[in-house]
Amino acid sequence: MRLRKLVPSDADILAEWAMDPVFCAHAGWTPQATIAAGRERWRALIESPDPALLRLLAVRANGAPVGYADLHGDSPGERELGYVVGPSRHWGQGIGTSIARTAVDHAFIRLGMQRLWAEALEANVASVRVLRRVGMRHTGYGDDADFLGEPTRYIQFELTREDWLAERI
Ligand SMILES: CC(C)(COP(=O)(O)OP(=O)(O)OC[C@H]1O[C@@H](n2cnc3c(N)ncnc32)[C@H](O)[C@@H]1OP(=O)(O)O)[C@@H](O)C(=O)NCCC(=O)NCCS
Repeated sequence: MRLRKLVPSDADILAEWAMDPVFCAHAGWTPQATIAAGRERWRALIESPDPALLRLLAVRANGAPVGYADLHGDSPGERELGYVVGPSRHWGQGIGTSIARTAVDHAFIRLGMQRLWAEALEANVASVRVLRRVGMRHTGYGDDADFLGEPTRYIQFELTREDWLAERI
């Protein structure tokens, strides 16, 4: 698994994921009726990104895109981790765990971060498992929210540089 910067032509890939109703329901995306509608939206986001959001496309060794990782925030030494695997036919093959692990390594090794944090909806079992798999520690609970039409709540996690280093020994 490799992470690379998004380029405007990646808008087509992201727009395809937005046509996948299962993916959209889980990720909280608004499904798009056509690739063209999604493409314009994504192209604009890639060309004028949020300066506090580092979004990296996750690609297999052969270059095929399978998701992205987000490292978000502008607090010194600290970022929020996020990830998606798209489209949903790729789920359940370990890709989410691999993307999150690669993003954690990127944050601590390449960016020199001191702490990562993340939130996942409790009912989004796969996402919670991904966070635990990469060594994140449960720190508390956040707001109530809905997942697939059912009430749930956010679970909060963190991974410090110290804990990450200790796991690598
Ligand atoms: C959450 C998501 C990234 C998981 O990706 P994935 O490639 O399916 O994850 P993995 O295959 O690495 O599986 C991770 C764990 O979840 C488990 N899992 C996968 N799908 C599951 C499901 N539907 N129900 C329960 N557990 C599930 C796997 O068995 C694995 O558990 P293990 O570590 O005990 O073996 C993917 O479902 C996704 O993109 N969802 C929409 C976006 C999203 O929710 N992002 C996270 C926001 S915080």
